[in-house]
Amino acid sequence: RGANPAASNELFTVRSPNVIYTEDAIKSTYTYRTTKVTKAGNKYVAEPLDTVYDFNVQRKVGKVGLMLVGWGGNNGTTVTAGIIANRDGLTWETREGPRGANYYGSVIMGSTIKLGNEAETGKEIHIPFRDILPMAHPNDLVLGGWDISGMNLADAMDRAAVLEPDLKRQVRKEMQDMVPLPSVFYPDFIAANQEDRADNVLKGTKEEHVEMIRGDIRKFKAEKNLDKVIVLWTANTERYAKIIPGVNDTAQNLLAAVKAGHDEVAPSTIFAIACIQEGVPFINGSPQNTFVTGAIELAEQHKSFIGGDDFKSGQTKMKSALVDFLVNAGIKLTSIASYNHLGNNDGRNLSEQKTFRSKEISKSNVVDDMVEANSVLYKKGEHPDHTVVIKYMPAVGDSKRALDEYYGEIFLGGHQTISSDKLTVIRSMSNVCEDSLLASPLIIDLALITELMTRITWKSHTSNGVGTKDYKGFHSVLSILSYMLKAPCTPPGTPVINSLAKQRAAMSNIFRACVGLDPESDMTLEHKLF
Ligand code: NAI
Repeated sequence: RGANPAASNELFTVRSPNVIYTEDAIKSTYTYRTTKVTKAGNKYVAEPLDTVYDFNVQRKVGKVGLMLVGWGGNNGTTVTAGIIANRDGLTWETREGPRGANYYGSVIMGSTIKLGNEAETGKEIHIPFRDILPMAHPNDLVLGGWDISGMNLADAMDRAAVLEPDLKRQVRKEMQDMVPLPSVFYPDFIAANQEDRADNVLKGTKEEHVEMIRGDIRKFKAEKNLDKVIVLWTANTERYAKIIPGVNDTAQNLLAAVKAGHDEVAPSTIFAIACIQEGVPFINGSPQNTFVTGAIELAEQHKSFIGGDDFKSGQTKMKSALVDFLVNAGIKLTSIASYNHLGNNDGRNLSEQKTFRSKEISKSNVVDDMVEANSVLYKKGEHPDHTVVIKYMPAVGDSKRALDEYYGEIFLGGHQTISSDKLTVIRSMSNVCEDSLLASPLIIDLALITELMTRITWKSHTSNGVGTKDYKGFHSVLSILSYMLKAPCTPPGTPVINSLAKQRAAMSNIFRACVGLDPESDMTLEHKLF
């Protein structure tokens, strides 16, 4: 027992009787400490509860492919150009001077976590988030994907109008040879205004479409010599599929509905089914209900990973941090008004009621858990008013404007307004930026974390400390991805956590547990007791 030296690409080693390094794996035994609460009359009894788990993390990452559905869109082209720019270490001229490639906005690539305190000085030691466990590097991802528009990625990047001309010039040659595979197109699921770009669509039945997508994944994997593939939906927002008993409620019914070519099976669900059956993780970056209960059940049956829904990039990310702060500060938030206008193709697609509705639902539920957790401020069922408006305004292109007003009740009936149009309060609530520059790093984080989750297995101990069961993977629904997602999909019957801080802590603490380290508690008792 004990620590072997870290591999050359690993930044630290854990020295602990609970952690073993083998050539292939990091194995840890970890005591998960929670608090069990029972109700005794009108009082609670809180009891510390320990559960011992073994974790096993494979150290070899292998060669990873990332296939994007909607590859030719604003996000698809921006993330592709961004990865090429980073891989090649590009710099480019802008009117504000030269700029260089980076991964800002990616929690994995751009942020750090505290490892511990330096022995002599007590100083905090922070390491890049990506070094907590062996992870894939985005520069090494092999990209591919599908789009209903057959335009090559260089021209599609021009169409997106997101990146600087000098950057585009440098990545153009490589992107010209990237052409999306034909995709599944059922016009009824997206806005009618998208039809004019749909020149690259698969023929055949729904059942055949599943097989074609599976074939595409297998071919990509073989041709590029990949160890694994991850598929991520960054295509148009679809309308919600109607939930119909007997059609999409169970895995069996869903597969029968595909066979029968049922109208309520969406293109994104066809992709999900193909990936699940192929054993390839599938992440949904858009708001629609791709993961109908039948799809979740199918993923569970195949022990295949799924994650979603809807990238949490700008306004909602801020909301899930700010509401957490306000409610936990004891301020009674009573209304949130959120206005957006944007002029890219996403905005165009959202200008129809049916697709807007998917986005509205996804944006609306993000404060529920934080409000529900505070029974001092809110009576059971009480909720702040919350309105979301999205308008298509072609002139602003990908530069989305998000304006928020938070209105709350403070001490003795006073009020606080936090809004973008009042210079006296927090000015930064108005969020203006290229949407795709926010979403692209999230795509990278989703891919890296999902890949990592394919290498982590666990088993639990009995009370006498003996491991009983075989190692197995995490639940099919990867709720660990919640930080990056507006409407996190969680295993059936488990709570949704929207608070940004909690979502980040879940990620970093689960990864710490995998190397046998306790959660970062922020108690800093060592500095408080002298
Ligand atoms: P976009 O409209 O530029 O790109 C979507 C691409 O998907 C288009 O190229 C379109 O041709 C393609 N497409 C449509 N249906 C398809 C299908 N069935 N199969 C394959 N390709 C298909 O949109 P953008 O800005 O790249 O956003 C993509 C998605 O991500 C949208 O649903 C959007 O709501 C979502 N999202 C974006 C955020 C951001 O910050 N950019 C934040 C949250 C979500």
